[in-house]
Amino acid sequence: MSNYDHILCIGAGYVGGPTMAMIAAKCPHLKVTVVDINEARIAAWNSDDLPIYEPGLDEVVRAARGRNLFFSTDIEGGIRDADVIFVSVNTPTKTFGQGAGRAADLQYWEKTARQILAHATRDKIVVEKSTLPVRTAQAMERILNGNAKGLRFDVVSNPEFLAEGTAVKDLEDPDRILIGGHETPEGRRARRVIADIYATWVPRERLIESNLWSAELSKLTANAFLAQRISSINSISALCEVTEADVDEVAYAIGTDSRIGPRFLKASVGFGGSCFKKDILNLVYICRSYGLNEVADYWESVVAINEWQQARFVRNMLANMFNTVAGKRIALFGFAFKADTGDTRESAAIGVTRQLLAEHARVVITDPKAIENAKADLGDQAGLVEWQEDPYAAAAGAHAIAVLTEWKQYKDLDFGRIFAGMEKPAFVFDGRNILDHQRLFEMGFNVFAIGKTPLKHF
Ligand code: NAD
Ligand code: UGA
Repeated sequence: MSNYDHILCIGAGYVGGPTMAMIAAKCPHLKVTVVDINEARIAAWNSDDLPIYEPGLDEVVRAARGRNLFFSTDIEGGIRDADVIFVSVNTPTKTFGQGAGRAADLQYWEKTARQILAHATRDKIVVEKSTLPVRTAQAMERILNGNAKGLRFDVVSNPEFLAEGTAVKDLEDPDRILIGGHETPEGRRARRVIADIYATWVPRERLIESNLWSAELSKLTANAFLAQRISSINSISALCEVTEADVDEVAYAIGTDSRIGPRFLKASVGFGGSCFKKDILNLVYICRSYGLNEVADYWESVVAINEWQQARFVRNMLANMFNTVAGKRIALFGFAFKADTGDTRESAAIGVTRQLLAEHARVVITDPKAIENAKADLGDQAGLVEWQEDPYAAAAGAHAIAVLTEWKQYKDLDFGRIFAGMEKPAFVFDGRNILDHQRLFEMGFNVFAIGKTPLKHF
C-alpha cells in the first residue's frame, strides 16, 4: 500500500466514468470514488442501466463497483478522503463574453479547484484529466497553492485520448499514457505516482512523461491533427465527385505510405463529437491571443472545411432531388456522431436535420442508441420529426435515405424490401460510404456517396 491509494475523480461523464472504472478494475489495491453534481448520472452509474452506452463497459464496471469503485454525490467527503484527485469535468466552448464561440469555458474547472481547496485537509496530487488550454495548470496551482491552510497541491496533466465507441479497448490497451508535471523533485514525484497507477497494466515504455505545458498542448494538438486528416480527405472527396476518382481508393493508396498511415482517412458527411471542434477552436483562440494569426487561420480552416462538408451534403441532396424536398419523406439512418455510441454531441446529423427541416422535408430519424439524445439536441424541432426505432419503418414511403452514422447493422438491411416500399425515384445518400453502392444501383436506387461518381438512372 502506498500513501496514494485513495483516488477521487470529479466528473462522472464519458471520460470520468470509464477511465475510473478501468483503473479500479485493474488496481484492486486502490479505492476509486467518482463524484458528480448530477444526481441522476450518479444514480445511473450505480444501476444496471449505465448513463452512457459503450461496448464492454458494463463488464468493467460490474467487476469493480462496490468492491473498490464507488459512485457518489458526496463531493466534499470525497475530496477530504482523497490522496489523488482526477478532475474530469466538462470544458465546453464558451458561449458568452470574451472568446465566446472559441475559448474554453473554464468555469466548471475553476469551481472544482476552489472546492478542492475548501474541503482538503491534507496535501494532494491534482490531475488534469479534462482537456484544457495550455498553461491552465498554472492558474490551477495559483488558486490551490495560494491557500492559508499550509497545504501543498501538486498539479499533473494526464490528458485522456480514448475515443467513444472504443473507450474500453482504448483504456485497456492505450497507445500511450501522457503524464506532464513540473521538472522539479516534487513535480517528478507526482508524475511518478500517476505513472505507477497506470503501470499496473500499461507497459512502462508506453508511459510518456513530459513537462506540464507539453502535456496540455499535446492533447489539443492530437485532436487537431486527427480532425485535420478528416478535413483533408473530405476536401479531396469533393474533387473526386467531379473527376471520377474514388475517395476510398485514393485514401487506400495514400494510406499505404507508411509516412501517412491508413487511419482517420475515411471520408464522411463531416466529423462530429464533443471535442474536435471545441478543441480546435480553443487552439485557434490561444494562437490568436499570442498574436499567431497565421497559425490560427491554418487550424480554423479544418473546422471551416468540416462545416462546408456538412452543408455540401444537404446541397447535394437538394440538387439531385430536383431542387425541392418540401413535403418529401426523408429517412435519416443514424444520428449518433459515430457508431457504437449513443452520444450525439456536435453530430453532423444535427445540422443535416435542421437544414432539411428548413427545406420543409418530412424527416424521419432512426438510430439504435441515440434517439433520446437526438430529441434533446433538436429541442423544439424534435416535434417536427418522426422517430422510428426500426429502419424499415423509417424508410417506408420515403423518397430518400441518408446514412449519417456508420452503424454496422445498416449494411445488412434488406434493401430490396426497402426499395419496394419507397417512393420512386428512390435515392440513397451514403454519408459514410458503408453500403454496397453498385448493388443498390442495380436494384433501382439512385446512389450518391461521398467522394464517388453518382450512380443514377436519369
Ligand atoms: P461530460 O459532460 O460527459 O462529463 C462531465 C461531468 O462533470 C458532468 O457529468 C458534470 O455534471 C460534471 N461536473 C461539472 N462540474 C462539476 C463539479 N463542480 N463537481 C462535480 N461534477 C461536475 O464530459 P466528458 O465528455 O466526460 O468530457 C470531460 C472532459 O474530458 C472534457 O474536457 C473533454 O474535452 C475531455 N475529453 C472527452 C473525451 C470524450 O470522449 N468525451 C475524450 C477525451 C477527453
Ligand atoms: C476523438 C479522438 O479520436 C480521441 O483520441 C479523443 O480522446 C477524443 O476525440 C476527445 O478528446 O474527445 P471521438 O470524438 O470520441 O474521439 O471519436 P473519433 O473516432 O475520433 O471520431 C470523431 C468524428 O470523426 C466522428 O464523427 C467520426 O465519425 C469522424 N471520423 C473519424 C471520420 O469522419 N473519418 C475518420 O476517418 C475518422
